[in-house]
Amino acid sequence: MAADKTFYVTTPIYYPSGRMHIGHTYTTVAADTIARFKKLTGYRTYFLTGTDEHGQKIERSAQAAGMEPKVFIDGIVEETKQLWQLMDIQYDDFIRTTDERHIKAVQAIFTQLYNQGDIYKSEYEGQYCTPCEAFWTPTQIKEGNLCPDCGRPTELVKEESYFFRMSKYQDWLIEYIEQHPEFIQPPSRANEMLQNFLRPGLQDLSVSRTSFKWGVPVPFDPKHVIYVWIDALSNYITALGYTTEQDELMKTFWPANVQLVGKEIVRFHTIYWPILLHALGLPLPKQVFGHGWLQFGGDKMGKSKGNVVYSQPIVARYGTDALRYYLMREMPFGADGNYTNEALLTRINADLANDLGNLVSRTVAMIEKYFGGSVPSPEAYQQVDQELIDKLIALPGKVEHQMDALQFSQALQEIWRVIGECNRYIDVTQPWVLGREDGDKARLQTVLYVLAESIRFVTILISPIMTRTPERIYAQLGLKDQQLMTWESLQSFGGLKAGTLVHKGEALFPRLDIKAELDALDREETLPKAAQSAAQAEPAAQGKPVISIDDFDKLDLRIATVLSCERVEKSDKLLKFTLSLGEETRTVLSGIAAYYQPEILVGKQVVLLANLAPRKIRGIMSEGMILSAAQEGDDNALRILMPEGDIAPGAGIS
Ligand code: ME8
Repeated sequence: MAADKTFYVTTPIYYPSGRMHIGHTYTTVAADTIARFKKLTGYRTYFLTGTDEHGQKIERSAQAAGMEPKVFIDGIVEETKQLWQLMDIQYDDFIRTTDERHIKAVQAIFTQLYNQGDIYKSEYEGQYCTPCEAFWTPTQIKEGNLCPDCGRPTELVKEESYFFRMSKYQDWLIEYIEQHPEFIQPPSRANEMLQNFLRPGLQDLSVSRTSFKWGVPVPFDPKHVIYVWIDALSNYITALGYTTEQDELMKTFWPANVQLVGKEIVRFHTIYWPILLHALGLPLPKQVFGHGWLQFGGDKMGKSKGNVVYSQPIVARYGTDALRYYLMREMPFGADGNYTNEALLTRINADLANDLGNLVSRTVAMIEKYFGGSVPSPEAYQQVDQELIDKLIALPGKVEHQMDALQFSQALQEIWRVIGECNRYIDVTQPWVLGREDGDKARLQTVLYVLAESIRFVTILISPIMTRTPERIYAQLGLKDQQLMTWESLQSFGGLKAGTLVHKGEALFPRLDIKAELDALDREETLPKAAQSAAQAEPAAQGKPVISIDDFDKLDLRIATVLSCERVEKSDKLLKFTLSLGEETRTVLSGIAAYYQPEILVGKQVVLLANLAPRKIRGIMSEGMILSAAQEGDDNALRILMPEGDIAPGAGIS
C-alpha cells in the first residue's frame, strides 16, 4: 500500500447531554461510508469521532439528572459507543474531551497561543443574567435589559476573560477561502461565511470563562476555564497526538482530508478552526463539508422540541443496512430532508427488496434450477450481454467520482441504475425460455454467468454503505475468495469462477406490508429507554412512595388554554388538543374521547404536565399530559382538572 495514499475523516464530537439520535447517526454513517470507501480503494484511512463533554450545557444536563457531570456523561458515552457498534461504525479512535491526553494538549495549545501573543487577557463587558449564568450582547438583550431566555432583569457586569485575536487573521482567511474554493463545501456555505461573518469584520473572541467550572482550566490562571469551542475544535489534532512526543498519527494524517459537520456549525469550523490552526502554524483541513439537516415534520430535530427519531428501533425492525442505505440514499449530502417512516419503508421495499433482493434471489434460484447450483461458464457474449458488461465496467469510476464528492445518494443512484439494467436484462433474455427443453442451454449459461458476475460487481460497490448485506450475498453466490471482493477485481469482468456453488438463502430484504409497518412504527415509543422503564417500574395507584418537595419540583405543571380540540381519526379514545401555554403552543393527545364532546372544551383551561417525555401516538407527537381525575370502579366518571378562575396560560402550578 502506497504510504502517500492516506485519508483522514472526522465527525463533529457530539454533546453527550442526551441520547444520540438519527441526526448524529447520519453524519457518523456518512463518515464511516467515506472511510470504508477510501479503504476499499487502497487508502490508509483514519476515522475519528467522539464526544464534547465540557461546558455549561453538559453541567446543567447532569445537574437536572441529579448526577456528577462525569458520571452522567459516562452513561451516555457508553450508549453512544453501543449505537456506533449497532450501526457498524468502524472508527479508529473515539476521543472524549475529558480524556487526560486531550486536556493536556488543549492546555499546551492555549499556553502557546498566549505566549506568542495571539491570546491576551482583558475584560468582557455585557449584560449578565445571574440565574441563567449567561452574558448577552446588546443585539441579544430584550428591551429594558431583560434576559432573552428567562425574561428577568440583567445587570451590567465586567468579567475578566482571555481573548483570541481573530481580527488579526481575518484578511488572511478571506484570501484563503477565495483561493481554495474546495475548502468549504458546498460552495454556497463559503459565500455565506464570507458575506455574513468575514467581510463585515471579526471581533476578537472571548476564549475563557470564569462563570462555570466544568471545563479545561487555563493552566496559568486556573480560575478560568477554556471556552468550549477552543477545547472542542482541538480534538481533531489532539487525538493525533499533537503537542506530544507520540505524534506519528499527526505526521501521517494531518491535514484532514475531510471534516464532516452539520450546517449549523460550519461557522465554527471554517472561521475559528482555520484561524486557530494557522496561528499554530498548521495547515488547514483540505475540506470542511457542511451537510444538511435531517428534519422531522419540517423542523430540525431537537430534544427540546420533542421531535426526535432514534436509530435503535428502526434497526431493530429492519436491520443496520436498511437504515444506512436509507440515510445515504434519501437526500443529497448538503441538502435538508424530512425523515418519514413512509419514505424509509418505500425505499426498503422498492430498492432493497424488489431491485436488489429480487435480482439476487432470481439469479441464484435459476442457477440452482438449471445448473444444479453450479455457476455455468459463459459462451461468446452477444450485444445485449456486452452492453450490460460495459455498464458494469464503467460503474466503479462513476461511483468513485460521486463518493469523492461525498455525493452518496448519487453514487447509490448510479449503482441502482445498473441493478435496474440487470433486472431488465433478465426480462429481455428470458432465461426461463432458454431453459426449456427446446431452449438454448449455451445461451442460458452465458446469461446466468453475466448475472452472477454482475451481482459480484454490485456487491463490492455497495459494501462501504451496506456493511452486512455483502457477506449474505457472497454466501448465496458461494463466493469465498477474498480477492474477488476487492476494488481491483472490478477492473475486468469475469472474475467469478465457473463451477462456484451457489446456495439459495433467505430473502435479503423481505417485502414489508407498508400499512402494517406504519401502524407498528406509530406504536413505537420514541421516548428514551430509561424513561420507558422508569414508567413501567412505577408502582400502582395504591401505596405510592412518599416523595420530597424536590421530587414534586421535577413536574412542570402548567395552566393551558384549549385553542382547538378534535377527535383523532379512527380512534374511539383519543382527542387531539392544541393548547396555548402563553408563548408556546403544544399538541397533546388525551384518551378521554368517551367522556367529552371536543367542542365544549375549546376555550377552557386545563392542567398540563408539560415536561412529560414527548410520545408519538398514531403518528401524532403528543407533547405533554392533560390531568384528569377518574373514579375507580365507575367507567363514566372522568373529569378534567380545571382552574377555579381564569389565569394566564403558561402559569406554573405549585
Ligand atoms: O454541535 N440532521 O454537538 P451536537 C443532521 N459538540 N445532522 C444532525 C442533526 C440533524 N437533525 N442533529 C445533529 C455539537 N446532527 C458540538 C460539535 S465539533 C468540534 C463540536 C449532527 O451534539 C450534525 O453533524 O449538537 C451536527 O453538526 C452535529 O450532529 C451536532 O451535534
